[in-house]
Amino acid sequence: MMNKTDVVLGLQWGDEGKGKVVDCLAADYKVVARFQGGPNAGHSISIHDEMHVLHTVPSGIFREGVKNIIGNGVVVDPVILCEEIAGIEATGTDITDRLVISSRAHLILPTHRLLDAASEAAKGASKIGSTLKGIGPAYMDKTGRNGLRFGDLLTGSFQEKYEALKAKHLGLLAQYPGFEYNVEEYEKKWLDAVQQLKRFEITDTEFLVNDYLQQGVPILAEGAQGSLLDIDFGSYPFVTSSNTMAAGVCTGLGIAPTRVGRVYGIFKAYCTRVGSGPFPTELFDETGERLRRIGHEFGATTGRPRRCGWLDLVALKYAVMMSGVTDLIMMKSDVLDDFDTIKVATSYIIDGRETVTYPYDGGGGAQPVYKEIPGWKQDLTAIRDYDALPQAFKDYVSYIERETGCRIHIISIGPDRDAIITR
Ligand code: IMO
Ligand code: MG
Repeated sequence: MMNKTDVVLGLQWGDEGKGKVVDCLAADYKVVARFQGGPNAGHSISIHDEMHVLHTVPSGIFREGVKNIIGNGVVVDPVILCEEIAGIEATGTDITDRLVISSRAHLILPTHRLLDAASEAAKGASKIGSTLKGIGPAYMDKTGRNGLRFGDLLTGSFQEKYEALKAKHLGLLAQYPGFEYNVEEYEKKWLDAVQQLKRFEITDTEFLVNDYLQQGVPILAEGAQGSLLDIDFGSYPFVTSSNTMAAGVCTGLGIAPTRVGRVYGIFKAYCTRVGSGPFPTELFDETGERLRRIGHEFGATTGRPRRCGWLDLVALKYAVMMSGVTDLIMMKSDVLDDFDTIKVATSYIIDGRETVTYPYDGGGGAQPVYKEIPGWKQDLTAIRDYDALPQAFKDYVSYIERETGCRIHIISIGPDRDAIITR
């Protein structure tokens, strides 16, 4: 028997609600695996009215009997990972047997964080708006073939390799004359955290996942960030440093394309973006303010207010196409409960010409063309049955399905585990 790996992906600029969805879907899987990104992610899960934010640990961690794998494609900051683990274990659950780390996963060094900060500061007004977790510099060392990996921890030369890479980084930091830093404090925590993580299984997880598939054990791959932050296909250079689309699952876990099954694409009923970069449907008025207020749109990782705007079908269709999405999941529909009309961008005007294709720069200077849809003006949060939803809402759902050519399988109408309608 050979099972497939199902995938959960964000289809916008991150913060679509992946944590909640993975936690819900995890009930049907034995394995949840992260395949890219790192602590730039902030996946929120509400359990018994308590909010947990996960950055590195896969969102299946709260399910008993589920193995959670940090795959080779992930970059890990040991300090942040240890803090997360401590937070989870404070709830009374020992997760030593629930978490496995790939020996090929790269480490984010304290100096990677400093390089991230120095590089952003030097960019001034053209900064990316990075989460400053060291993601870019860590992936640069990975592709530059200088990186330090979890497997190195188990060798005798770890300290030596660490010092060599740190020395290289300090040389690079010297090129930012005005940049002041203190590496010792974080480094102390970091070296301690690295030792603590040795209690977890660190192994060549590509064998583990393929063994699971061979045995017919279902795996769920959990994406971080969003499709439009993909290093190749996102709004470059305002992107993250990994492949956030479905293709990343293969390289980030060691799973063949023929072993990928369903691809769940998550989107919010409107759009948000944190950090800089093109956002054609962004609202700068009271409506944008309202979306932010009702949707509590503040970053889970950085606390920054998120930019808000209407749903963008040009971008959404692109994301659906690029990952071969099989099922859509619509989040935070309830945020729109009180709006008289809802707008959806169906095309862009760029340099006086109308286009329905997502441009290579992510639509800087694009003017969205909107379709207006009547609001449903009803509180959705208590509804659990699709048939009980207002007709105007169902019309909104059907419209998106027609446009994307993809069925909306799950609709979320509130933060709790059970605030979900599955069709
Ligand atoms: P989750 O998984 C939203 C954004 C940053 C910045 C750009 C590059 O919670 O959806 P980086 O730190 O990767 O160098 O930042 O990407 N970004 C995210 N935005 N959600 C995320 O993750 C993000 N991870 C990175 O704001 O614009
Ligand atoms: Mg986030």
